Amino acid sequence: MPIPVLPDGPRSGRLVQTVGLHRDPLAWLRRRQGRFGDVFTIRLLTTGPVVVVADAVLAQDLPAADPALAHAGAARRGMLPMASPRSIFGSDGDEHHRARTRVEDLFALDAIAGRREAIAEIARAHLARWPRDRPLRLLPRMRAIADEVFVREVLGVCGPRAGALAASIGGLLWTPGNPPVTIPGPSDGLAGRAVDVAYRRRRAPVARLLEAEIADRRQAADPGRGVLGRLVAAERELPAEGLVEELLALLMAAQEPMAAALTWVSLRIAAEPSVAARLHGDGGDDVAAAVVHESLRLHPSAIGVLRRLTVATEIGGHTLESGTVTMVPIPFVQRDPRYHREPDAFRPERHLDPAWSVPEHAMLPFGGGARRCLGEPLAWTQIGAVIPTVLSAVTLGTVGPRPEKMVLRGTILVPRRSGLVTAQDR
Ligand code: HEM
Repeated sequence: MPIPVLPDGPRSGRLVQTVGLHRDPLAWLRRRQGRFGDVFTIRLLTTGPVVVVADAVLAQDLPAADPALAHAGAARRGMLPMASPRSIFGSDGDEHHRARTRVEDLFALDAIAGRREAIAEIARAHLARWPRDRPLRLLPRMRAIADEVFVREVLGVCGPRAGALAASIGGLLWTPGNPPVTIPGPSDGLAGRAVDVAYRRRRAPVARLLEAEIADRRQAADPGRGVLGRLVAAERELPAEGLVEELLALLMAAQEPMAAALTWVSLRIAAEPSVAARLHGDGGDDVAAAVVHESLRLHPSAIGVLRRLTVATEIGGHTLESGTVTMVPIPFVQRDPRYHREPDAFRPERHLDPAWSVPEHAMLPFGGGARRCLGEPLAWTQIGAVIPTVLSAVTLGTVGPRPEKMVLRGTILVPRRSGLVTAQDR
């Protein structure tokens, strides 16, 4: 039987490739695409080979290949080993269909839109605690807002337990700085075991609070609101631990991309006062939406749409065997000069003026197909509630002469200095 041949790619060691991708993902991907063409294989520390499809047209069938021709869950678990194979994020096939359909309606736009004022109220309380007399890092502050929104508005927890839960979630995925490496799983040697021990330790207080909430709801006549209420009603026999695994994977999908998007939009506003003026002006929702679309184009939260092929597939002249993990690199595709005019420039008007024409297949901030982001309506509602609240309370200013570079943290693209700004009362 012939040995499957992967497309060519960089020959440097896995550590060198991993660090290169994490330190400057866009420039690194561009250089590799320039050298190897649109389809190339990269080798990262803990993930095995990943075939990058760096052309929006060649890649356009991949996002929708799940479930018939590829699986997203298996591919994601290679990069995020903590994502439970039972969760919406990490499962595949029938298991995924079941997990997603039982909560999908809770994430629909009409269900979420009514939460806007409650989200703005959470943001107002956080903003009151932001320092005014020294630089602050936006990313952890936005993460704290996103955590509280998740606990109160997604899980549906309220009262004193909500505050304790949001605080303990805050420490769960903390790392010193932005480690330029992939996340190891428990089977990845010493480093993997050490990371697993640290994660289990931080996870314990979150799990205790969630288990207490699950126990209360199981005893009550009505399992209560939110995703927690829905899961408790659906899973009467499953031990609480199983529900916790599922909820934590949902949290991982929700927290970091949301915080990164809120941070990047705020950084753009801080760097370009004309943008803030336009948002305060008469442009209304269309201008605000265009600013957010443009921020998500230049700074998508996720590095890529990941799919593990379940049948042999031809892409760009290469036959990729079943089992191959593919990645559509979102920041590359969304700044590809073949599909975007002035690809690196911040031009919100490209989303308003049809003459600019932004091709749909070259915009993937929320992925696509059956595995498209479940939280997209919540993401838009959250941005629409938090950013105006920030703008009406403070004027943001940049710190340092240059815009912050995009680096990779886990699978999420974040600003290198975590969004360093100043905030002055308006
Ligand atoms: C601006 C914020 C966000 C961005 C940019 C974002 C982006 C993404 C992307 C790129 C994916 C992968 C899609 C694919 O593979 O095709 C994804 C999946 C997912 N996201 Fe989001 N996300 C955001 C916020 C949220 C929030 C707030 C939640 C809420 C709970 C959420 C829940 C999920 C879930 C559950 C999945 C997996 C869906 C599935 O496999 O069926 N996301 N997201």
